[in-house]
Amino acid sequence: MKKRISDSIRRVDAFDKAGGITKYISDMDFEDLQYGRLVRALRSHARIKSIKSPKLPDGYYFITKDDIPTGGKNEIQQISNDWPVFVKDEVLFYGETVGMLVGPDRQKILDLEDAISIEYEELEEAFSIDEGLALKSGKIYGEDNCYGDYHLNKGDVKKGFAEAVTVFEEEINTGYQEHVYMEPQGLVGYYENGKYVIIASSQCPFYIKKAISPVLNTDQDNIVIKQATTGGAFGGKEHFPDIIAAPLAVAVDVIRKPIQVVFDRKEDLSFTAKRHPSRGIFRTGLDAKGNIVAMDVDVTINAGAYMSCSNIVLQRAIFSINSVYDIANVHVHGRSVATNAFPSDAFRGFGAPQGLFLAEMHMSHIARNLGISPVEYKRRYFMKKGDTTITNGIMHDEVKLEEMLEKVYAAGSIEEKLAEYTPGSGRGIGISFYQHGAGFTGNGEQEIIKAKLKMLKHGDGNVEILLSNVEMGQGLQTTFPKIAAQVLEIPIEMISCDNPDTSKVPNSGPTVASRSLMVVGKLVERASRELKERWDEDEEVEVLVNYIHPEGCEWDQATLQGDAYPTYGWGVCAIEVEVDPATAEVETKGIWTAHDVGVAIDEMIVHGQVNGGVIQALGYGSLEKLDYKDGKFQQNTLADYIIPTSMDFPMMSSQLIENPYENGPFGAKGLGELVFDGGASAFADAVEYAIGKKVYKIPVTPEYIMEVKNRD
Ligand code: MTE
Ligand code: MOS
Repeated sequence: MKKRISDSIRRVDAFDKAGGITKYISDMDFEDLQYGRLVRALRSHARIKSIKSPKLPDGYYFITKDDIPTGGKNEIQQISNDWPVFVKDEVLFYGETVGMLVGPDRQKILDLEDAISIEYEELEEAFSIDEGLALKSGKIYGEDNCYGDYHLNKGDVKKGFAEAVTVFEEEINTGYQEHVYMEPQGLVGYYENGKYVIIASSQCPFYIKKAISPVLNTDQDNIVIKQATTGGAFGGKEHFPDIIAAPLAVAVDVIRKPIQVVFDRKEDLSFTAKRHPSRGIFRTGLDAKGNIVAMDVDVTINAGAYMSCSNIVLQRAIFSINSVYDIANVHVHGRSVATNAFPSDAFRGFGAPQGLFLAEMHMSHIARNLGISPVEYKRRYFMKKGDTTITNGIMHDEVKLEEMLEKVYAAGSIEEKLAEYTPGSGRGIGISFYQHGAGFTGNGEQEIIKAKLKMLKHGDGNVEILLSNVEMGQGLQTTFPKIAAQVLEIPIEMISCDNPDTSKVPNSGPTVASRSLMVVGKLVERASRELKERWDEDEEVEVLVNYIHPEGCEWDQATLQGDAYPTYGWGVCAIEVEVDPATAEVETKGIWTAHDVGVAIDEMIVHGQVNGGVIQALGYGSLEKLDYKDGKFQQNTLADYIIPTSMDFPMMSSQLIENPYENGPFGAKGLGELVFDGGASAFADAVEYAIGKKVYKIPVTPEYIMEVKNRD
């Protein structure tokens, strides 16, 4: 009998990774390898008056903007081109690249770095959202210092407020979060046969190629990006590798030797992009029965000194601001604010975790004010098939939240426990609901990405899948071949799907937005079906497939109206805590989740994603304090930036609900980010129950709990 696609197999990469056989960037050998180190401006907002470098010993180079090849631009081609390769005149954030020191001995480079002196003229600084909004002189971006400024309107907010008998207002905040991928940022660059080659630990090899081509003033065909096995990414290697690749490419152009740039952990914690901090100010109108008649939300995110992908993060944040609820009358104002903070960037969830946290806490707070249990209150508003989304699109999916909630309740004996615990008793259970729009927003796949994928049958019957998506722990090098093996009915050992090399693979798009398994996986399925039909056509058969946009999914990017996503994954997460009355330390007693990911391509991989995602979210919600003060991340070692270990959280119960999606392979939907989306609010909600007081920000640390408990 043919196996179910969901039945787990051993991961293709398991043995070599667990056995220490896999080579990562810093394990690779090159003849005459040189080391590069970024030299940074140590001011947050300043004009550079002069840079003095000592006379360098033979074989050492200090690469600066003067080394950019003739005709090359001092700007990195990303969504926006505002981020320069090397500081132009004004430094906009602490740690911005001034140059790169290159040479054969790493210690010597550190000594030389100390001898470089930079003279600055200081300018007015702004770090927080409020300081960014108030920045008067020397605005960082545009007229109002916001990269993006959007409004969403659903229903009639004015009419809704006219019906309100009470208006409830509050402010909720989320903090920074660091990715802590196991392998820090790293790249190697060299020049070979007239081409610039970059080996990268990254998520998007084609992004790097595009980013550096105007810098080198060379055609993209002269640049080759080879994906190195990547030790985790979580969004942190979506755009950030561009920032290192650009100066590295300039250095390669000058020196023409292989150069390695690998950050150490402290450098990585201090000088890479983090999750955007966010603030939501809610004004919600309630009628006499406590029903929501109107909601007005102001959402701001701290985008930092360059735009990067902040506007797309902001869009996801505001699209998530009603969580899984159908609220009739809503207005949302969203802004991504320019500051002199380190530019914020992609992080698992891409703005959704922020929006969802704000939304879930606000809904819980309304319920608590009314004396209703948050779960009972939230259920009244559950989105259903056919309902209108916040962008006035249609919910095309069957929504199975009730069934999921039931499963979570049963697994955790939640009803019985809640009957026993009372608010403020020191024990509590928090429950969060969440959804994640899978894939790129709106028509991004159709208009921007236009994914292509190739499959080859070789003479010996082995099959090769050629695509640009990367394995970063989420399991693609197992799930893609598994989809092909299932269709072709051949053993998975006969199918390869290697780390991409841009000179060999078609561009199937970046490894982001939980799109790869769902969107590119569908291309694998389609290509496999075609290959199966044409199998006997020849010794060697090549199949090329292109993305097809799902029918009935309309979107207008100019107005942000329509179906923001083709489909959604759904989640329910319950967390039980006990708060120590003396120390306010929290012990997590249990975690129960249910997820709708369509159909699991491999159950073990999905459970792995659930485990990792929920725990990463619990770190975000409870432990990972990251302060930005005087232009610096204050926690820059893993001794003071605290992430969860296996001692912090118990094993969790993880259930999957089948709800096949017709445009995903075998019915699968994107899930890699979904599983991150609910942990923080479930934790905060549980603490609220346990202490009988409201919390307004994450992380909910013992220090913050003490503060809340002492509040009147
Ligand atoms: N899981 C592991 N182990 N490592 C990672 O870096 N990245 C997450 C998530 N799961 C990540 C991960 C992020 S940010 C995204 S966007 C999705 O995986 C990507 O899923 P996809 O391969 O389906 O696109
Ligand atoms: Mo994921 S934040 O889209 O890389």
